[in-house]
Amino acid sequence: MLGPVILAASRSDRMRRLISAAPVTKQVVDRFIPGETVDEILPIVRELTDNGLELTMDVVGEDITTPEQAEAARDAYLELIDRLKPLGLGERAEMSVKLSMFGQALSGGHELALANVRPVVEAAAEIGTTVTLDAEDHTTLDSMFAIHEALRKDFPRTGCVIQAYLFRTEEDARRLAAAGSRVRLVKGAYKEPAEVAYQQKHEIDKAYVRILRTLMEGEGYPMIGSHDPRLIAIAQELARTAGRKLDEYEFQMLYGIRGDEHLRLAAEGHRMRVYTAYGTDWYGYFMRRLAEKPANLRFFARSMISR
Ligand code: FDA
Repeated sequence: MLGPVILAASRSDRMRRLISAAPVTKQVVDRFIPGETVDEILPIVRELTDNGLELTMDVVGEDITTPEQAEAARDAYLELIDRLKPLGLGERAEMSVKLSMFGQALSGGHELALANVRPVVEAAAEIGTTVTLDAEDHTTLDSMFAIHEALRKDFPRTGCVIQAYLFRTEEDARRLAAAGSRVRLVKGAYKEPAEVAYQQKHEIDKAYVRILRTLMEGEGYPMIGSHDPRLIAIAQELARTAGRKLDEYEFQMLYGIRGDEHLRLAAEGHRMRVYTAYGTDWYGYFMRRLAEKPANLRFFARSMISR
């Protein structure tokens, strides 16, 4: 029951101001967002890659309100890519971007987001890596898929995310399961109405398996974004029956969640990519992590009370 309430709060400006100004212990936010600056995040990049893990990096931020903020988002990614260059990691460190941070919701937002994200995709390609477009709420997805298609004309390895909870996703998956595509499948993290999305966990899990089967049997590169042990076992089985080798799909999990499982899958020879977020505008990302597991909220509340 708590999840939807927290998700509603994640879009509230008033709650954003309250929580961001609250004496939140750094320890709680750090578990999911282990740095605010590039200098703070680079040691984490080294640590994860030294442990045989790969990364997709997210400069936190979303729902910006001015074109200048969208340009600042673009520049933050350009700085990150510039600092990654000497590490020579190639696709072992790719980027994840939210188009709402690149201006998608502003007037003329579709064109603005495309114009702001293109230099990031170009810079990523120059250092031998790529970008994946995160999926936000359902109203933004037609624009996201159109931007994905436009970018893929010049940068075919640009990836995108699809969300199992949405009714539309089975059709999106059939379209995207084509040669050369890179598609991350997740359950979905936003508060969506019953007209467009499954509401029950068992329905979402069943849809996840149907969609994953489509991706595994297709010709693209499936990226399994989940911490759910049952779905991970099913993914391994689907990959085996589809005759995929270990380098023909990958697992992805969020930094700070089931870290032992990251290492276990990597040790088994799987490609394991850790979604690693950093930056100062952590509110929306942090609240979605609280909503996914109400026990996190109790920990968060305790840490505020014990100060
Ligand atoms: P589920 O929520 O059932 O969790 C399975 C188990 O994992 C839990 O029992 C618990 O042990 C652990 N767990 C999960 N979440 C936790 C948390 N927050 N804290 C502590 N433990 C937790 N969503 C979206 O809408 N758009 C996107 O672009 C992305 N991108 C993305 C990238 C990657 C790499 C991942 C892994 C996830 C996303 N998501 C996302 C988030 C996704 O939609 C979903 O909300 C979370 O992954 C939680 O769902 P699970 O599949 O992990 O299952």
